[in-house]
Amino acid sequence: MRVALITGASSGLGVGFAREIAEKEKNIDEIWLIARRRERLEQVAASLNFKTRIISMDVTSEEAINEFEHTLETAKSADQSFRIGLFINCAGYGKIGNYEKVSRYDSAHMIDLNCKAAVIMTLLCIPYMSAGDRIVEICSTSAFQPLQHLNLYASSKVFLYNYTRALRMELLPKGIVVTAVCPWWVGDTEFIGVAKNNEANANVNAGVAGFPLATKQKDVVRRALRASRAGFAVSTPGFMCFIHRMLGKIIPRTCMMYIWELFRKVG
Ligand SMILES: NC(=O)c1ccc[n+]([C@@H]2O[C@H](COP(=O)([O-])OP(=O)(O)OC[C@H]3O[C@@H](n4cnc5c(N)ncnc54)[C@H](OP(=O)(O)O)[C@@H]3O)[C@@H](O)[C@H]2O)c1
Repeated sequence: MRVALITGASSGLGVGFAREIAEKEKNIDEIWLIARRRERLEQVAASLNFKTRIISMDVTSEEAINEFEHTLETAKSADQSFRIGLFINCAGYGKIGNYEKVSRYDSAHMIDLNCKAAVIMTLLCIPYMSAGDRIVEICSTSAFQPLQHLNLYASSKVFLYNYTRALRMELLPKGIVVTAVCPWWVGDTEFIGVAKNNEANANVNAGVAGFPLATKQKDVVRRALRASRAGFAVSTPGFMCFIHRMLGKIIPRTCMMYIWELFRKVG
């Protein structure tokens, strides 16, 4: 049995990946949907017309992680052919604001979710993968430069981006393909709403005026899966993130941060 496992599957890109995999991905027998909101996962599962398994868990909880490890072991002992054909790590969040506006809790929790949980979930999946299987880590275009007023989020995605790139090299001999997906703003997910919502500073302009040229979830998912199937190391699913990646290679970081200063103020 070959499973596609998606974290962050209760909304946004995760739902998009579930739909696209159910429709187009070959040799997948079951999709495992992971997130905290069980009802949302149930709705997604019901809409898929594909065999699914719902795992409602907080990927930052050590207890939940231990339970999930046990779930994987049980699946393997029940069916020796059990294998994770595709692991897509979408769970992640960001908060807009400078060092004062983003709470200490969120500053630490972004690292817990976007970095630590991403690594741990990946490490749990690898033993069940073999040649031809694929890992997709949803990073961000924010990995291409330091971003003041989105600092913690961007820094966490730099970590995930570098981790993903190096993991790809480590897994090359095993034939497992690892792809870092780096989208620009995606307008039709819950991400921006969560990022802007800063309880401690509800009435303060958090620091990013607008989200110009936002991409659509469906396009990002399609391009990301295409890149993963083709075995690419990096997917920049859209014009803006492609340009951002290119400029990040040639323009000094200080200049990039001043360009971002303009972007975040004008929107
Ligand atoms: N949208 C953008 O502009 C954008 C741009 C670049 C990169 N990204 C990245 O894309 C990924 C997906 O974001 P999205 O745009 O699809 O946003 P989204 O709609 O907010 O989805 C985030 C998902 O993560 C899950 N999640 C959050 N905390 C979790 C936890 N502790 N345990 C388990 N699941 C958790 C959420 O489900 P529950 O709340 O049910 O747990 C939700 O399903 C993120 O990594 C984000 O950083 C987004």
